[in-house]
Amino acid sequence: MVSTTDSALAWRVHRFGKPAEALRLDRVSVRPPGPREATVRIEAVGLNFPDLLLCAGRYQERPEPPFVPGYEAAGVVEQVGRDSRFAEGERVIVIPELPDGAMQTRQTVPDAALYPVPESVGATIAAVLHIAYQIAHVALHRRAGLRGGEWVLVTGAAGGVGLATVELARAAGARVIAAAAGAKLPAVRAAGADVALDPGEDDLGTAVREATDGRGADVVVDVVGGELFDRVRRCVAFEGRLVLVGFTSGAVPSLPANHPLLRNYSVVGLHLALYRRAEPALLHRVHDELLELLAAGAIAPHIHRELPFDEAPAALELIAGRDVIGRVVLRTG
Ligand SMILES: NC(=O)c1ccc[n+]([C@@H]2O[C@H](COP(=O)([O-])OP(=O)(O)OC[C@H]3O[C@@H](n4cnc5c(N)ncnc54)[C@H](OP(=O)(O)O)[C@@H]3O)[C@@H](O)[C@H]2O)c1
Repeated sequence: MVSTTDSALAWRVHRFGKPAEALRLDRVSVRPPGPREATVRIEAVGLNFPDLLLCAGRYQERPEPPFVPGYEAAGVVEQVGRDSRFAEGERVIVIPELPDGAMQTRQTVPDAALYPVPESVGATIAAVLHIAYQIAHVALHRRAGLRGGEWVLVTGAAGGVGLATVELARAAGARVIAAAAGAKLPAVRAAGADVALDPGEDDLGTAVREATDGRGADVVVDVVGGELFDRVRRCVAFEGRLVLVGFTSGAVPSLPANHPLLRNYSVVGLHLALYRRAEPALLHRVHDELLELLAAGAIAPHIHRELPFDEAPAALELIAGRDVIGRVVLRTG
């Protein structure tokens, strides 16, 4: 994908709808980097479920069109501003702020939006190493205080956040029950799940009780919500922790407040983006740990498909079709 140094190609949402209706490929200008900023040539963009919701205007963030969606990308620093912590040629992950999101071939961002990656990590892997893995890590460790040997139940386990949760739970010495659609169960087993079940076919409560000697799951990470949430909340162990991460089912469930009271469990929310302002050092610590786990082979992001940058709408439709295992990535070159 060719673009001159002061411009870029960007997928922009012009009106809310399905990706093919919402997105248009535009040439946009790229400003030179100011103090503590850098311009990055993007090599790969990692797509996430929220990109679909952004196109539809159904996400918690709803920028005014036209805007560039996309939460994460990877590339090479092309130019730096005064006092930037980065150097030209350095490989980075870019976590930009909307409305100037990640689905573009080049962009200028503050240093705070950049995370360094070693040469050994390819752009496709770097482009999927932040959002899903940070959510999984912060959910398991910061929000749920996971301890080795505990049982973790994760829903939507074959998706981006789900597979990352399976891998990081295993890496922490936990045991994992993974819930995903039947055709995806081999993939969640391959990622390290001890028990894999299809909540559309299997009796979730019985499977969790059998696996845990009747205790239930110490930690539940739920990305699906809806009626599945109503079933997983009944599977939480005494003094367990249920982490709310997302609602891919499209339904935000309600919780009778007496349920966690009667069963002695905690319900905690996670909104990762808030840590960027409240405690950015946490995300940098997690980033360093993720790089170590990647180098040690303890995590291995599953790439479902790499598509050319021009095919962003089709790539997002794959996610909408619910057939994706792991992640879909756009490559710019
Ligand atoms: N809290 C935060 O800070 C934060 C940040 C980013 C993302 N998120 C959320 O994390 C969640 C997961 O994101 P992701 O990128 O991992 O998504 P993903 O890769 O698309 O995976 C989500 C899984 O949810 C299930 N699913 C999808 N559509 C569904 C539907 N209509 N009904 C029921 N289940 C459905 C699918 O599993 P099966 O087909 O196997 O059932 C799919 O594998 C999303 O809700 C997203 O908004 C939260």
